[in-house]
Amino acid sequence: MPAEARCVRFARRAKAGEHYELLYWTDSCPDEYTAQLAVLMARMSTDTPAGGLSYDEETWDVARVRHVENTWKQAGLDSLVASARHRGTGELAAYSVLQVSDRKPWLANQDDTLVASHHRGHRLGMLVKILNIRRLLTGYPNVERIVTFNAAENDHMLAINVALGFRPAGYDGEWQKTL
Ligand SMILES: CC(C)(COP(=O)(O)OP(=O)(O)OC[C@H]1O[C@@H](n2cnc3c(N)ncnc32)[C@H](O)[C@@H]1OP(=O)(O)O)[C@@H](O)C(=O)NCCC(=O)NCCS
Repeated sequence: MPAEARCVRFARRAKAGEHYELLYWTDSCPDEYTAQLAVLMARMSTDTPAGGLSYDEETWDVARVRHVENTWKQAGLDSLVASARHRGTGELAAYSVLQVSDRKPWLANQDDTLVASHHRGHRLGMLVKILNIRRLLTGYPNVERIVTFNAAENDHMLAINVALGFRPAGYDGEWQKTL
């Protein structure tokens, strides 16, 4: 099934209803949302399954978000960010980052996707990914494929990726030494 048709099909199936609105930007988060984005970015270090590896909780604030955005830009990346905002509270509930490099215009990288735990179960993860893929299809016609990485036990993220048409392309192992 073509990517656009698949996106429309799954967007219709989403349960977010009228409680959430979708937002998007490229490269730089609007000032009004940056502190909230920092909260979600910090949760990537605590909420993402990591098998037997252990990671320290990361501290994120507005300055760190701006720093990483600048780093991405300096590395030649266009960063498409999609987000869902809860209308009732104004809270950012979800975000997803999809990046394209000017050095490899045929390849996009699906980076972070996270839904805050108390907003899960409304298919927001799929919705923000679909929004980014749609932007990619219209704005970056040279992209032929998207790569991403998931922990093998991350069933919720894998279910979304498989539904969107991602297929396994390889496996790698990570090792950690406890000192
Ligand atoms: C993957 C993720 C974005 C999916 O969130 P979501 O879009 O809200 O998920 P869905 O709406 O598709 O949820 C489907 C069901 O699974 C449940 N669910 C989703 N994520 C869950 C989780 N991490 N743990 C337990 N249950 C979860 C939902 O509550 C829902 O249950 P229901 O059908 O009984 O209502 C979310 O789990 C998450 O943010 N995980 C942490 C970050 C992460 O792993 N990112 C990927 C890194 S590669």
